[in-house]
Amino acid sequence: MTVIKFVKENKEVVAANGANLRFKALENQVDLYTFSGKMMNCGGYGQCGTCVVAITEGFENLSPRTAVENQKLKRKPANFRLACQTLVNGEVSVITKPNPKTDAREVPVPAEAPETTSQPDVVTTEATG
Ligand code: FES
Repeated sequence: MTVIKFVKENKEVVAANGANLRFKALENQVDLYTFSGKMMNCGGYGQCGTCVVAITEGFENLSPRTAVENQKLKRKPANFRLACQTLVNGEVSVITKPNPKTDAREVPVPAEAPETTSQPDVVTTEATG
């Protein structure tokens, strides 16, 4: 279990590890959408970009950005996420309806995965005839 803190709403929500951020926000009456997002959003399929949030703490506790997010958020600060594409695995602080000028934060660079030097196993079989 973990805690999601919605900063503007001054609300803390308990969530299971792996919880979807959009789902937990809506479930707890946290308003993610601006007026246009309320009128028309994709329902959590990563197509509209209206569920954007800023992460101010705990960025490392989230699932990595998806390809859809990389496309939709390419002009947004690195700490911005699409709530519908984000899974929470630890404590985070979230700003809904963020302002790119005031809510941008540095994002810790994830450690590089170690390079593998081993070659894949090659299995050869000889045909017997
Ligand atoms: S709800 Fe449409 S992109 Fe998240």
